[in-house]
Amino acid sequence: MRDWHGVTRNEHCADLEPARLLLRQARSVAVLTGAGISAESGVPTFRGAGGLWKQFRAEDLATPQAFERDPRACWEWYDWRRGILAKVRPNPGHYALADWERRIPQFTLITQNVDGLHAEAGNRSVLEIHGSIWILRCIACGREWKDRTFPLDLLPRCGACGGLARPGVVWFGENLNPEIWAAAERAVRSADVFLVVGTSAQVYPAASLAPLARSAGVRIVELNLEPTPLSGFVDLALAGRSGEILPRLLLPST
Ligand code: OAD
Repeated sequence: MRDWHGVTRNEHCADLEPARLLLRQARSVAVLTGAGISAESGVPTFRGAGGLWKQFRAEDLATPQAFERDPRACWEWYDWRRGILAKVRPNPGHYALADWERRIPQFTLITQNVDGLHAEAGNRSVLEIHGSIWILRCIACGREWKDRTFPLDLLPRCGACGGLARPGVVWFGENLNPEIWAAAERAVRSADVFLVVGTSAQVYPAASLAPLARSAGVRIVELNLEPTPLSGFVDLALAGRSGEILPRLLLPST
């Protein structure tokens, strides 16, 4: 079905021209990324083939209760992931989004990833809605600090009050930072185009940004290796690897 400016709805398309057209016309773009964008850097995703949640139970490691029960086991898992992340570099998908930030007048990058690779690629302002694995937070006084040490002392302590520190990430059952979330919602509502990259769209409230965009009349483009619960209602669903497709999306047509 042909829709707005000749854009085709609801189809997986190998042809990037309709998405390029949407982006060329946009003055304001919001992007949501998930674990898929870091997969080509060598970071395991959570779900799907090779996904971390096939090997581990999320509730054993990524909940406040898990930390209370056994902070050392929880930190072992985060330290192991910090070890993987300390060695990886951004890939062409991350660099393409850093380039977009420089070229698109209003550009907001929202990420569910805690790996810090968008900032490393050069994005200046990233809304890290699930926090950062490189931040530690004292559970006693609430102080937060950056720490890239690997391996960590498995029961890290706050330098100010001596309290136990936890990873500065959002766990299942916890609320997102309200200011960061409000900024993400504002950016999506005011965008001309909302691009959703490499997320299985199963974790809320991140997955609610696409329905929000739709209700605000924002055009939605999804890029993923495989169909997701969003694919049926987005304007364009692009099937492919973000590291290959993103660098080609803002180029003039060939
Ligand atoms: P998932 O692991 O659930 O989904 C990754 C998605 O990326 C899948 O839909 C893959 O098909 C897709 N994918 C994999 N490689 C890709 C590539 N090269 N190019 C494009 N797409 C690719 O990860 P998220 O949706 O990010 O939260 O997971 C959301 C949240 O669940 C995470 O932030 C984390 C997790 O539990 C917390 O820990 C709170």
